[in-house]
Amino acid sequence: MATDLCTHPLVQHYLTILRDRRTGAAEFRRCCKGITEVIMVEAAKQLSLDFVEVETPLELTSGAQLSTGVVFVPILRAGLGMLDPAMGIIPGSSVGYIGLERDEATAVASCYYAKMPDLSTSSQVFVLDPMLATGGSAAQCVEQIKAHGAKHVTMVCIISAPEGIAAFEAAHPDVPIIAGKIDRALNDQKYILPGLGDFGDRLFNT
Ligand code: PRP
Ligand code: URA
Repeated sequence: MATDLCTHPLVQHYLTILRDRRTGAAEFRRCCKGITEVIMVEAAKQLSLDFVEVETPLELTSGAQLSTGVVFVPILRAGLGMLDPAMGIIPGSSVGYIGLERDEATAVASCYYAKMPDLSTSSQVFVLDPMLATGGSAAQCVEQIKAHGAKHVTMVCIISAPEGIAAFEAAHPDVPIIAGKIDRALNDQKYILPGLGDFGDRLFNT
């Protein structure tokens, strides 16, 4: 499925601050919140609606409400930075957590924690992870989400690499990706170029 790029000017504005090596943790968190809000609004365009009636103080009129439950699954740690802004966009959402960490030598991710809510087949699940590098973490996460019964999953990231997109699409051709940017390539250590470095370290000041 084609990757959807969010080209909003605010994405480019916040992304430039996130990339800047001089940006400290406080500003990094603020911009992570800002960029996630914009990307999530774009991702939420796919949500379906039920048409309902609503009574204003003056008369009855037609309205709409989200027809499915929304579940956010941030990939720990870095995905946590996207959770609050995402829940701010859709406050009635549920949350599942998955902890995945890449081995520094091999860049292969392994799972150290998972806690999922009930995922009915009608739920819309948004996986939150700012960096899609090799795509391994995202692919493993979606595998677990599908194993819990979810049928509608979308991968939401801030920066992606072409190699990661290709690997993820091969593993999950039915899962759309929405990204703020597709960067040039991965380096030998499987970091995204030009990227922004290690998102988790910059977010959590470690
Ligand atoms: C980072 C990032 C993604 C993953 C992407 O996590 O937050 O989860 O790498 O890389 P991939 O596409 O090659 O799998 P990391 O393993 O550094 O853990 P952290 O968020 O706890 O720092
Ligand atoms: N994880 C990060 O935080 N940054 C990268 O460039 C790749 C994986």
